[in-house]
Amino acid sequence: MNKKYRKPIIAGNWKMNMLCSQTKDFADELKPLLPKNRSSEAVLCVPYPLIGSVLKAVKGLRVAVGAQDVSIYDKGAYTGEVSAEMLADLGVKYCIVGHSERRAYHGETDAQVCAKAKKLLEHGITPIICVGETLEQRELDITMEWVSMQVKGAFAGMDGADVRKCVIAYEPVWAIGTGKTATAEQAQEVCEYIRGVVRKLYDARTARSLPVLYGGSMNAKNAAELLACPDIDGGLIGGASLKPADFSVIINAANEE
Ligand code: PGA
Repeated sequence: MNKKYRKPIIAGNWKMNMLCSQTKDFADELKPLLPKNRSSEAVLCVPYPLIGSVLKAVKGLRVAVGAQDVSIYDKGAYTGEVSAEMLADLGVKYCIVGHSERRAYHGETDAQVCAKAKKLLEHGITPIICVGETLEQRELDITMEWVSMQVKGAFAGMDGADVRKCVIAYEPVWAIGTGKTATAEQAQEVCEYIRGVVRKLYDARTARSLPVLYGGSMNAKNAAELLACPDIDGGLIGGASLKPADFSVIINAANEE
């Protein structure tokens, strides 16, 4: 589908990596590698304690800072939780929700993903909602049903205007951190399908303005081919976002799209 309605987004997901003391060196290395005129949006989703130092380190680089999770609660007696309001107050612009690692290790459900996305929207933060099938589900040929269920669950109770403020990241679980990337055809097929689900649930305008990213072993070598697909609007990048040289190659590839 015509990409002119959507800005490419390259979002790094640092997961539980890096230290505050490393963020300045990272930004200093990244700075000269970023393209001068950039149409793509670059984002770094970092662990909570690193948000302040990354915000400071990337000042002037046109790199937005994101978080990796958020509480479903507003405020109060929720030990260990971090609210959307706190993130917005810091200057966070994006937040990953429903990453497969949170679904797998923390039992996160579609209902929680939906509640988190809504809290973020209330505070002007863009949710990056992750969906994707396991290898077993792909082999059972239920990828589309599964992903469709996750998308519908995440958007439950949202109107078109809310959905148009979200980002979806299609991340096949079998491709995350494994070095096994989905082929461009496989990734495009599911991203196009997701857009179709949104069109049916809402309308053509909402479907064409929703950015759908691909994630799962995207790297400096395979990014250009994936990003050239008509329904892939960017990437959610784990391992390769930890290396400024690799991350910048991906940002450059998105910029050329
Ligand atoms: P990966 O991680 O690029 O290391 O596969 C992607 C992700 O989990 O978001």
